[in-house]
Amino acid sequence: MKKILFVCLGNICRSPAAQGIAENVLGIENFEIDSAGTGSWHIGNPPDSRSIAVCKKHGIDISQQKARPVRIADDEYFDYIIGMDSQNVKDLKNIFPEKNHHKIMMLDQISVADPYFGEGDGFETMFQHIETAMKKLSL
Ligand code: 4NP
Repeated sequence: MKKILFVCLGNICRSPAAQGIAENVLGIENFEIDSAGTGSWHIGNPPDSRSIAVCKKHGIDISQQKARPVRIADDEYFDYIIGMDSQNVKDLKNIFPEKNHHKIMMLDQISVADPYFGEGDGFETMFQHIETAMKKLSL
């Protein structure tokens, strides 16, 4: 069982979607999948309603997730810690000791844009970016 943690800033838009998409694309038989934020403004909250809606549109239910910040032991527990953008990866490398930096990576070579403050189809763009990258991921 490989353990994967997806990380974004707020843990209410991108990484909850990544968790839901991973559960679908990678499957829950061989992977334990979770998500967290480098920030802690939204602890205990469900994902952003727009993220729930775009996932639902694609047949994925993320409504039961609850936001949490990354924890200091996450780098020991998880095999892969996957940031949504380059800032997430920088922050994760500051949070976790160097010995576990090999577990930290970005989902895609290109950062997944934060749709939180954006307008229009940002959440659909986010979904497509995450899904395409997830299918290319070899863990
Ligand atoms: P996320 O988006 O990192 O994809 O969950 C954000 C959600 C909330 C905030 C920032 C980004 N915020 O500043 O509250």
